[in-house]
Amino acid sequence: MRSRMLALGAGLLLATAGCVPKPKQAYSTDQIKQLESLEELMRVQAEAADPLFARIGQPAYTDAEYARLEQLGQKLAATSEAMASRFSQNRPPSFSTYAKRLGEQAGELLGAAQAKDAAKASTTLTGMRETCKTCHKEHR
Ligand code: HEC
Repeated sequence: MRSRMLALGAGLLLATAGCVPKPKQAYSTDQIKQLESLEELMRVQAEAADPLFARIGQPAYTDAEYARLEQLGQKLAATSEAMASRFSQNRPPSFSTYAKRLGEQAGELLGAAQAKDAAKASTTLTGMRETCKTCHKEHR
């Protein structure tokens, strides 16, 4: 009975997870900086960023959304630092250029969220999504 319920739970999770697998666990920023797997790092980024990319273009954000935007800025500051410092070896130089660009944008997002500047938050999210896409086109 118990295992049947577990199986059902796992099935439901898979059905609702979308196309990108979730990270194996929640990571602190310190743990993010030590991740061994670039794939896992990307899953962390997608889980954090995708729901907020979906809010691009909103004329205003709630305080709860600004708090999530701040958290996203902090998280992507950590992931981009890890990409630049730990995953750029043996890759063409533009890889670390994109990683650093994402890091700058993460800082801008943090500032926009703290200032509760909706327009700036939205354009920064758009720029970030572009950085994800551009790096994927070249390096994935
Ligand atoms: C500096 C280059 C770079 C940037 C910037 C970048 N990615 Fe990636 N991404 C990659 C590479 C390379 C892979 C393939 C990694 C692998 O499979 O080992 C990848 C793979 C992925 C995957 C697939 C993971 C899987 O389950 O196989 C997702 C999802 C992803 N990235 C999301 C993002 C998001 C979201 C952003 C922006 C917030 C982003 N990436 C920014 C280089 C980048």
